Amino acid sequence: MSLQRKTLVAGNWKMNGNAKLLAQFVEYFSASRKRCETVLCVPSLLTLNAVSASEKCHWLVGGQDVSAEENGAHTGDLSAQMLVEAGCQFVIIGHSERRADHGESNQLIARKAEQALAAGLTPIVCVGESLETRNEGSEEAFVEAQLSAVFERLSAQQLSDIVIAYEPIWAIGTGVTASPEQAQAMHRFIRQRVAQQSQSVAKSIRLLYGGSVKPANAEMLFSQEDIDGGLIGGASLDPKEFEAICLAASE
Ligand code: 13P
Repeated sequence: MSLQRKTLVAGNWKMNGNAKLLAQFVEYFSASRKRCETVLCVPSLLTLNAVSASEKCHWLVGGQDVSAEENGAHTGDLSAQMLVEAGCQFVIIGHSERRADHGESNQLIARKAEQALAAGLTPIVCVGESLETRNEGSEEAFVEAQLSAVFERLSAQQLSDIVIAYEPIWAIGTGVTASPEQAQAMHRFIRQRVAQQSQSVAKSIRLLYGGSVKPANAEMLFSQEDIDGGLIGGASLDPKEFEAICLAASE
């Protein structure tokens, strides 16, 4: 992490949790301890509960997905404006699970990022390669293609308002974390790619690592120069573990 960038830890509950678990989080997080910027991305039906506790718990709330359309006949989808009205400030976009489960393309993800930005949300744009791609040695080319599709649609000003999360698919939910060196190497690559768009944005943009982050490995990962925090799945479902990760990011 760098002193000029504010560290950020976001919890992605995915399709897990319920109001009871959220109540446990509220109890735990309302004992105020100094933490890094903390975002909770709960299932959308829990958004209002998470928002109403946010002042007491010092967290911000995010969505897990958003429509690429502004409004209209898109049954089941949520617009960026709806997330804003519910009190969200962030939204995860392009998670590998959505890319796999819903066939989301790089181009669709770029349009979602645009919609989110237009509504005033901070998109957390996820990128990351499969094990097969890494074994072929093409992980940088793969991530570069994911990034380029988004960068092509955004001005430098818009780019300065996004967060990028590198989540290698082989590290998600597997217990196999990228080594700090592997993670740092990709984060550096991503920052260099951002620098091709804008040198100043490359210095300020926050890059998160995601994939089996736990309290035991968080500090090593977050101490890498180009890693500015984490996107946490499994460990964000346990208040103690999640807070320990947030505290590791605050050091
Ligand atoms: P895990 O932390 O469970 O590996 O999940 C990471 C992730 O997908 C966060 O978006």
